Amino acid sequence: MNKKKPLTTAKGIPVSNDQASVTTGSASGYTLMQDAHLTEKLAHFNRERIPERVVHAKGAGAGGYFEVTNDLSKYTRANFLSEVGKKTEIFVRFSTVGGEKGSADAERDPRGFAVKFYTEEGNYDLVGNNTPVFFIRDAIKFPDFVHTQKRNPQTNLPDPDMFWDFLSLTPESIHQVTILFSDRGTPQDYRHMDGFSSHTFMWYNKDNEYVWVKYHFKTDQGNKTLTAEQAEAMKGKDGDHATRDLFEAIAKGDFPSWSVYVQIMTPEQAKEYKFDPFDVTKVWYHTDFPLIPVGKMVLNRNPENFFAEVEQAAFAPSSLVPGVAASPDKLLQGRIFAYDDAQRYRLGVNNNQLPVNASKNAVNTNQRDGAMSFVNGGKLPNYYPNSLQEVGEPDLEFAPPAVEIQAVLDRHTKVVEDVDYEQAGELYRRVLDSEEKQNLVKNIAGHLGAAKVNLQYRQAALFYKADSDYGGRVAALLKLNIAKVKELAAMTNDDRVKATLLDVEYSS
Ligand code: HEM
Repeated sequence: MNKKKPLTTAKGIPVSNDQASVTTGSASGYTLMQDAHLTEKLAHFNRERIPERVVHAKGAGAGGYFEVTNDLSKYTRANFLSEVGKKTEIFVRFSTVGGEKGSADAERDPRGFAVKFYTEEGNYDLVGNNTPVFFIRDAIKFPDFVHTQKRNPQTNLPDPDMFWDFLSLTPESIHQVTILFSDRGTPQDYRHMDGFSSHTFMWYNKDNEYVWVKYHFKTDQGNKTLTAEQAEAMKGKDGDHATRDLFEAIAKGDFPSWSVYVQIMTPEQAKEYKFDPFDVTKVWYHTDFPLIPVGKMVLNRNPENFFAEVEQAAFAPSSLVPGVAASPDKLLQGRIFAYDDAQRYRLGVNNNQLPVNASKNAVNTNQRDGAMSFVNGGKLPNYYPNSLQEVGEPDLEFAPPAVEIQAVLDRHTKVVEDVDYEQAGELYRRVLDSEEKQNLVKNIAGHLGAAKVNLQYRQAALFYKADSDYGGRVAALLKLNIAKVKELAAMTNDDRVKATLLDVEYSS
């Protein structure tokens, strides 16, 4: 038998014994400080944990490729979309949102759907969800929103009062809440769910003409969901079922794929659309903006090492390549700051040098040093402007279109209006079948029923505003007085809140 390679310390020094510490006299003697192998081993172990992601902590990832199936280069100069058949390497991470790193994959929660395209013009990250809309539409609300979906600061338990207090005070969440409590809130697993950019992005072409786009990833495995009962049973049986499903499918060569589409809106159409097209609580109607195929995404490679590739993966909505730019979506604008900042804290300032995050094309930056810089520009100069040939130079050729803006700077409040309830109502009336409707109201009542009765009234009134049958059925399951729910639904938002403050009697 061939001799195995030597075990070494982190410094590459061969280790003579990995089972006994160095001691005086006998195996029962004192351990010596000079046992640097022992102290290195203990000290490294103490530092194995890094902060988990503040949201989306539990996830699974895989590598693969994106292939263009339809030429949309008249709309975008993005190099990775330039011609049919062009393939780009990708890395994808799916996740739940609220749970910690060890939480169950079957929780009722949106699912993260993050794709990193290693393009020839740098990394393009599409950091989406399995839902086309979101709970809030201003980044300033995000930390509070997340606090309410996580644990109570005193009990450290999930808290239905915090959960529903925030949502019922934030009626723009009604569309996403309706999706979340339908069976879509518990996808069967990661392979059987769709993905969405949710936000609107700008695409611009070589002539700097631009359009607005939303991305849709349609699973080729079929979109499948779990009922609340199936999800509960799965949580008891296998907390990691979706992670396992993805890994095992890829390991046996059953590579999951998604057909990728975009909706395209011209700037003129955006000005005239019936609602704010940059409002992430709303979908663009497919009848107005049909899905246009653009490509296929295939996952065919399991990570070699989970921590190196999946835990250290850093996806950032700021990571946009020439041909793609941000839109005025206020939530997106906040996200453009939040992710890079989170990753500097979670992984360090040089996280873009980690293999999973490193751009496959040449990086010519004047940034230098910082913790863990192992790609540091060598002997090249580290400043601009300079009079040298071999260093990077900005090129106006990559400038996105100028967008004219005339505006008043203020903390503008987006007031909740009737239009904000419409799509939740339409989803209930037109999209969900009778069994899905039944599951939706049952799932809501099961969760909302654990909150204080005033919150039940306030939230039931919002469902009623979306659709009277929807709100009526939730109210009936919660045994609420339907006349009072109707009364609350007819009030202004401010009056409804005042009538249902937690110290107001509203319970008979
Ligand atoms: C203002 C609103 C939001 C803020 C401030 C925010 C912030 C964050 C932060 C700080 C992380 C952790 C990043 C890391 O440590 O690597 C994260 C993860 C994530 N967020 Fe958001 N988020 C927001 C809204 C959204 C929306 C609307 C979506 C989807 C459309 C989304 C999808 C994701 C995904 C998929 C991840 C996990 C990425 C991964 O797999 O590493 N987030 N978010």
